[in-house]
Amino acid sequence: MSNRLDQIAGHLNYPKGMLAGQVAIITGSGQGIGAETARLFAKEGAKVVVADVDAKKASDTAAAINASGGSAIAVAGDVLDDKYITELIKKTAEFGNGKIHIIVNNAGYTWDGVIHKTTDKQWDTIVALHCTAPFKIVRAAAPYFRVKDGEPRNIINISSTSGIHGNAGQINYALAKAGVTGMTKTIAKEWGPQFGVRANTVAFGYILTRLTAAKEAGAFVTTPDGEKVALGIPSAQKASGPNEVQQHLDIPLRRPGSATEAASAVLAVASPLFSYVNGQTISVTGGRNM
Ligand SMILES: NC(=O)c1ccc[n+]([C@@H]2O[C@H](COP(=O)([O-])OP(=O)(O)OC[C@H]3O[C@@H](n4cnc5c(N)ncnc54)[C@H](O)[C@@H]3O)[C@@H](O)[C@H]2O)c1
Repeated sequence: MSNRLDQIAGHLNYPKGMLAGQVAIITGSGQGIGAETARLFAKEGAKVVVADVDAKKASDTAAAINASGGSAIAVAGDVLDDKYITELIKKTAEFGNGKIHIIVNNAGYTWDGVIHKTTDKQWDTIVALHCTAPFKIVRAAAPYFRVKDGEPRNIINISSTSGIHGNAGQINYALAKAGVTGMTKTIAKEWGPQFGVRANTVAFGYILTRLTAAKEAGAFVTTPDGEKVALGIPSAQKASGPNEVQQHLDIPLRRPGSATEAASAVLAVASPLFSYVNGQTISVTGGRNM
């Protein structure tokens, strides 16, 4: 027991940081919540792998971390591509001298539609992106998590209030983000007992990123077969929503969260301060949906 406390105290040693000596993969860390998570993890001493389909944004994020005294590499690619997943794990293990301690499965986007208009492609893409890809990443990283070296191991899967409560217009995303919680608990149950791996879900509410910005701003992603998916929420929908939503009356803190606040919660879960929190879904919502 005292060894464990010493270990935790060691990880809390400032200025090395709470994640000193750990190697972390953060998918979708070229921008938004993932980029902030990469920055905060690096500030706490982690060596960070910035994984994103947008190669320019991934390398910019890694460069900014390195310029401010942290340690990061960019490994760009699409988590829907099996070959990329193999490469991501291989390059991370090389960067980490044979170790990987943390995976944050954060990459993702929404492709909304009401139930009767949602296509098979919309459905399959969103399930593959938010459930199948994280599973394949975790499976590929198994040799680095099923180890007994006394070092912390953490898997954090990013979910959404849509997965917990459902959301009109997001049947595919709600299903996928709900699936994430079952996957997380299964990892906690399989890899906790022998290997001490912690696995938790962090579910966000309304966080200010391009996913929740006005659709008219023009952000989009491209599916593997080249289809453009527009991101954001139409301004008309924002303006015509219930008054309660417009004024954030549905959020006890009366405001959306910032990417930094969202990432800070991910850091908290990954940190030794949460060393006995396992298999949980942490809602980061400003109190919405209580
Ligand atoms: N913003 C919110 O309000 C909110 C709410 C709930 C959940 N989330 C979840 O948080 C996560 C991060 O979202 P965000 O708001 O920061 O979005 P974002 O669009 O700002 O960032 C997501 C990043 O993921 C990358 N990405 C997307 N598809 C990818 C793929 N196939 N392979 C590799 N990288 C890919 C994008 O290039 C982008 O850089 C997502 O899983 C999202 O569903 C966000």
